[in-house]
Amino acid sequence: MNGLHGLVDTENGQVSREIFVAPEAFRAELEKLFTRAWLFVGHESQIPNPGDFFTSRMGEESVILCRDKKGEVHVFLNSCRQRGMKVCRYDQGNTTLFTCPYHAWSYGNDGRLIGVPLYKTLYEGVLDRSQMSLIETPRLALYKGTVWASWDAAAPEFLDYLGEARAHLDLALDCRDGRPGGSEVIGVHKWIFPANWKLAAENFLGDTYHNPSHRSVDLIGIGPSAAAGVKGRRDDQLAQAQHVWVSFPPGHGVHSAIAPADNEYVSAFLDQPEIEAYFRHCFEERKRRMGEGARLLPFVGTIFPNTSFHGGQPRGLCAWHPHGPTETEAWRFFLVDADAPAAVKNFLRRYYMRYSGPAGMTEQDDMENWLYATRASTGTIARRHPFNYQQSLYAAKQDDPVPGLVSLQPSEHMARGFYTAWAAYMRGDDWSGLMGRNRAPASLRAAE
Ligand code: FES
Ligand SMILES: [Fe+2]
Repeated sequence: MNGLHGLVDTENGQVSREIFVAPEAFRAELEKLFTRAWLFVGHESQIPNPGDFFTSRMGEESVILCRDKKGEVHVFLNSCRQRGMKVCRYDQGNTTLFTCPYHAWSYGNDGRLIGVPLYKTLYEGVLDRSQMSLIETPRLALYKGTVWASWDAAAPEFLDYLGEARAHLDLALDCRDGRPGGSEVIGVHKWIFPANWKLAAENFLGDTYHNPSHRSVDLIGIGPSAAAGVKGRRDDQLAQAQHVWVSFPPGHGVHSAIAPADNEYVSAFLDQPEIEAYFRHCFEERKRRMGEGARLLPFVGTIFPNTSFHGGQPRGLCAWHPHGPTETEAWRFFLVDADAPAAVKNFLRRYYMRYSGPAGMTEQDDMENWLYATRASTGTIARRHPFNYQQSLYAAKQDDPVPGLVSLQPSEHMARGFYTAWAAYMRGDDWSGLMGRNRAPASLRAAE
């Protein structure tokens, strides 16, 4: 591989397989992309009290999402300032101190170095403890319970970075009855699969075309209530809607839908009256609260680079953590309304487990594709032939009927936007360049 130049040709819908398998491309991503972009690190509901922490990741590095004793949220690199040992080896918990297991330097939950054994004898007059706090991300954003961080002090404000994709992400984060925010994480699935992280990220951009992969699940029907006669994975709200596939700067993409104006609630839980009553109430209340806005229905999306969301069922956020060129650690955070009745939460918990994760019925289908595509793309001959991204090359229009670059038919323009952004990070473009990539490619503009 001779550098990264020329590996991405989104004008013609071609992306080299090298960027999914080559160690050089992977190293370049860690240095040029994961050190700059806004990354999802967790949810405030995972750290509700002072001293709570959740160990997360940014790129391939371990970080600690933590609420200090004053209630402020921080994201720290999970690495001691003395010799680099992990200062926190738990997945989550509550602590006043992170004490390093190696030589026992200890840090407060605000990151400050507090304790250094034998300080007076060994370090006094030399070591300035105030300069040896845990390394903290210079940028942090809290949005409707989600926590995002960037290592780039010059990164744009998070909401600017999110841009018009925000309305679609909101569909995952807001309460089912339309109240803003109000979600909580009820569990996180974590597993490792042998494929490049971008295959998962681009699948969630709205690759509706891969539906044949889930044919078996569709046939047996695992809708939220298959017993009530709902067949397939889609609910009838989506079946009646105009679907939209949308690309946004800097590389985000979604697949959502717009319900008809006379959209009515479709019963799906008739054998479970409490669940049925809850979802019916949410539907009616959302319509009352949001009016026309309630017609926007959620499906899936990816916030560039590696945070995906599912806004309907199973509702949640995914972080595709890069492990290596052909290995990814998937974390799937499942969301419910914090104030939903216990019966609803339990129903959703069981449904999420049945549907998603390494043992879930659809995730197995997707991972099988990603890992065999990876295996079949590492060979010398295979690597000479790029992947094809020509689907609906000229189908997208700007801001019609929703903001963004929109196609009304299944399309890969979200993936083309994603890899256009990827290439811009690899070139080292500045933020004005990265944020400006919101228009149709030149070939598309010419076709209009
Ligand atoms: S590595 Fe942490 S105290 Fe030595
Ligand atoms: Fe899938």
